[in-house]
Amino acid sequence: MTNKITAAITAVGGYVPEDRLTNADLEKMVDTTDEWIRTRTGVEERRILKGEGKATSDMVVPAVQELCRKRGIEPSEIDCLIVGTVTPDMVFPSTANLACHKLGAVNAWGFDLAAACSGFLYSLSVGAALIESGRYKKVVVVGADKMSSIIDYTDRATCIIFGDGAGAVLLEPSTDPESGIIDSILRSDGGGAPHLHMKAGGSLNPASHETVDKKMHYAYQEGQPVFKAAVKGMADVSYELLERNNLTGDDIAWLVPHQANKRIIDATADRIGLSHDKVMLNIQRFGNTTAATIPLCLWEWESQLKKGDNLVLAAFGGGFTWGAIWVKWAY
Ligand code: UT7
Repeated sequence: MTNKITAAITAVGGYVPEDRLTNADLEKMVDTTDEWIRTRTGVEERRILKGEGKATSDMVVPAVQELCRKRGIEPSEIDCLIVGTVTPDMVFPSTANLACHKLGAVNAWGFDLAAACSGFLYSLSVGAALIESGRYKKVVVVGADKMSSIIDYTDRATCIIFGDGAGAVLLEPSTDPESGIIDSILRSDGGGAPHLHMKAGGSLNPASHETVDKKMHYAYQEGQPVFKAAVKGMADVSYELLERNNLTGDDIAWLVPHQANKRIIDATADRIGLSHDKVMLNIQRFGNTTAATIPLCLWEWESQLKKGDNLVLAAFGGGFTWGAIWVKWAY
């Protein structure tokens, strides 16, 4: 009998733009204070992708190049590229399509997956299924967002948390039961749409002078209802994932949470009984990069991870979409 194939993460890459937008910068742009932003969100600065003609795919490319370099493979060896994003370069072709061309990933197919802040978790789950099917050997899963392209920098409720970035992981088949993506719980509730969405640019409200005048191409967020749903959703699903696998906080090496608000992250850690020093946190430097937050944490913590470490990846975002994934680190 052959061992079950799992999808193991075998390399990580990341990219954050050089340009910084600090709380002091925001104090000059909207009616806010560094003190308010730090205490209510945990964010101190974010990175912004600047430059004419620069788009989400321009962050995907260096993240995937780094991952290929680390693993010693060529982009032409990639079978499939999945990009979790809500800020694609354009509606079509997909960001994955454009990035494959820029990378020289000539043997890959791919697609974008829109699940807002849960985009990486949804994409990781799909990528893992492609590997588990036995049909693909190298699937790259990316979370990437150029949030600065859809943020209204006169709206203090949204501009204070979001930033730009991209993170990527390589998935390969493993028969080692002690490594790979072991279990996941993913949820969706489109009833949450009124609280977090972009009103125009889709088939409901195609672009027009009116949609531009009414600022309908920006991310719209009602902070409080999203906050309340996020605290409950992210904590509940993480708890459920542990409980159904007979795990406790003591078994977990790291919580890898979506970085939307430090208070949401703390609530999730408390609910699963995890001390805060086992929580990856880079919200203070990168803000909320939407689909990129979780892979950017893996990118930054990679050198501290050990084979067999149990990681819980958890996210909540627009949709509503949310979920948690149990990963056993493979290297
Ligand atoms: O990424 C995935 C999805 N997104 C999230 O998970 C985000 C979830 N929501 C949040 O993180 C928080 O709701 C925010 C950070 C967006 C807002 O924090 P909050 O503690 O929920 O603030 P609030 O909206 O309840 O506003 C509290 C007060 C209000 O003033 P009054 O009515 O009490 O006088 C706001 O007008 O703070 C005011 N306020 C601000 N003050 C200074 C709102 N934004 C700001 C600001 N600076 N930037």
